[in-house]
Amino acid sequence: MTASGGQKMWGGRFERAPDASFYEFERSWQFDRRLLPHELALDRAWARAIAAAGILTHEESQRIVAALDDIELRAESDAAWLDSSKAEDVHHFAETALIEKLGPLGAKLHTGRSRNEMVATEFRMYVRDAVRDMRTAVASLLRAVGDQAKNNLGVPMPGTTHMQHAQPLLLSHWLLAHGEAFQRDAERFRLVSERADYCPLGSGALSGSAFPIDRNALARDLGFTRITANSLDAVSDRDFALEMLFAMATLAMHLSRLAEDLILFASTEFAFVELPDEYSTGSSLMPQKKNPDSWELIRGKTGRIYGSLFTLFTVNKGLPSSYQRDLQEDKEPLFAAIDQLKPMTQIAAAALTVTKFRHERLREAAQDPALVATEVADYLVAQGIPFREAHEIVGKVLRAAEQAGKSIREMPIAELRKFSPLFGPELSTVLALESALARRSVAGGTAPGAVRAALGDFDARLAKIEENP
Ligand code: ARG
Repeated sequence: MTASGGQKMWGGRFERAPDASFYEFERSWQFDRRLLPHELALDRAWARAIAAAGILTHEESQRIVAALDDIELRAESDAAWLDSSKAEDVHHFAETALIEKLGPLGAKLHTGRSRNEMVATEFRMYVRDAVRDMRTAVASLLRAVGDQAKNNLGVPMPGTTHMQHAQPLLLSHWLLAHGEAFQRDAERFRLVSERADYCPLGSGALSGSAFPIDRNALARDLGFTRITANSLDAVSDRDFALEMLFAMATLAMHLSRLAEDLILFASTEFAFVELPDEYSTGSSLMPQKKNPDSWELIRGKTGRIYGSLFTLFTVNKGLPSSYQRDLQEDKEPLFAAIDQLKPMTQIAAAALTVTKFRHERLREAAQDPALVATEVADYLVAQGIPFREAHEIVGKVLRAAEQAGKSIREMPIAELRKFSPLFGPELSTVLALESALARRSVAGGTAPGAVRAALGDFDARLAKIEENP
């Protein structure tokens, strides 16, 4: 037994075993064991590839594949075996287990390959699986958004810019605005997977395998579409992991924006939503409290995802060409980001699904006459007044209304005519909330018809993601 607790992978030229504390410091099995299913898949494919290249007999490769299957079965059921291993990393673990089972035949598998290309390949496989997980989680969030938009269709709300009342919106339009951001996230994840879809195997340690490996067959065997073009680049490229982290950071940012809206909407001042008991907490002191902790934690955890992105950027910065051990620091930030973001997304979906929108309160807030000031200006424009002038007139009307302590809807027409003789009785229709909404019927606008069409399009895109996560 060596300090590594099994057959060494590289000890031949060393006189002394590694210092025990250094060994603990440099080993990665504690976290890269997550890659074990990918390692074993790669090992099986490699056994077939080197048999095809004449390095193993067909029978030898079959025995290796069968032994790897056994190792996989045991790994699935025997956590203590994995926990107690002193392996240096996931590659060392698999090789040690294989040699334990097959003796010298097991020791043949590492022919013509390097851990540098293996870890690059397995990490790509992991990212592609993680994309599927993340797209599944985003799909459930999109479903929650779409369902709420459908179930609340027709409910108005005040729209703001700078957090000031601006123009009325449909609540569904607000929901679908968040939905669009999450649709982009799903698409971004898909592109990450597509760009990770290059197999580095055959790159060797840095200069390419010295054995006649059919790289394309090997790539296909592992579910990759193409092979990487340059062995030196392939062992050191982690762009795919950075892109995954960027996609995750962006999703987290979108989640935290939704969280911020909902936290505000749940406050007594807004009272637009009723927080679901299942996803809220109480105060240990104040009996009246129901706190939006689910959304606050989602907003708060976003920093961790950004942190992972910047960790990996920094690890990669300034590395010389080829594999460097710094690159072992690539995995934990990504794993940590996934461990946080997947539940963040799932909780957001679940909490949004059971959130109640308070229609009466939203309608009441949407009746603020300030929200239709633009309509009055547009009304004057329709009578031939230049917009700038109309803007000025409406501004004066609003100030007069404010001084009189009235809303513009309550101003008598005779009073309004003092500001412009063009004001007529049709103005009351123009001032109605419904007509302000209905006028925004351009594609992408908030008119009920436009929102219904947007919902159809939203659903069609969502169905594609659900079919093919
Ligand atoms: N555990 C290593 C990593 O995660 C695997 C590659 C090791 N290669 C090496 N030359 N030490 O990067």
